[in-house]
Amino acid sequence: MTPDPVAPVIAVDGPVGSGKGVICHRLAKALGFHLLDSGALYRLIGLAARKHGVPLDDEDALADLAHELDIEFRPTSDPEEPLSVHLEGEDVTRAIRTDQAGTDASVVAPLSRVREAIKALQRSFKKPPGLVADGRDMGTVVFTDAEAKIYLTASAEARAERRYKQLIDKGISVSLHDLFLSIQARDDRDMNREVAPLVPAPDAIIIDSTDLTIDQVFEQVLTIVGEKIG
Ligand code: C5P
Repeated sequence: MTPDPVAPVIAVDGPVGSGKGVICHRLAKALGFHLLDSGALYRLIGLAARKHGVPLDDEDALADLAHELDIEFRPTSDPEEPLSVHLEGEDVTRAIRTDQAGTDASVVAPLSRVREAIKALQRSFKKPPGLVADGRDMGTVVFTDAEAKIYLTASAEARAERRYKQLIDKGISVSLHDLFLSIQARDDRDMNREVAPLVPAPDAIIIDSTDLTIDQVFEQVLTIVGEKIG
């Protein structure tokens, strides 16, 4: 590992609903670091594919789409949604957060040419004073020399309930049972794919948040980051 005191990276990986998103937002804000929401990029590729009628299994066309992705993240005044997301000039902040968009993302994500196409884009988020990188392969593929690696997990039941609350709070209606099934299917695709499967990096610190509050998880993460980065 090559420590980078100018732009250290904190890689946070884990399955859907593990609390990564909230923790990464809080961490980036507390440290004044940049934030990479890599899942949003896969969701945007899925959305762009639907918009342009590209089949979700056409690897070459999807990789071309990913290379030319016209996206922008703009700061907002809403602490719950600090960045708005734009695809080809259209505000898709809500559209990328639906369960369908997450499922589409996990269908295009196993394609190696698609993953390659956005690797440089993801790495371009690493800038001073540092980066919090949220995803599935941040510590294992994209930022293998990250200064701190955390793998956040929780039982599938706990994750389904959390996602349910999050989506309902955002005004997106969904059934808890359907969410549970969709989380199981997404875990299966993310953990068992050949390219960049979701696994903890060998040097990641694992936090199981099933019985922890978000504040307790955040405390643990801050302690780890303090030890690794200072
Ligand atoms: O984190 P989020 O739920 O937004 O991710 C959506 C999907 O994108 C994941 O289920 C996964 O299939 C894919 N993804 C990935 N690698 C990442 C981030 C997300 O394969 N680094």
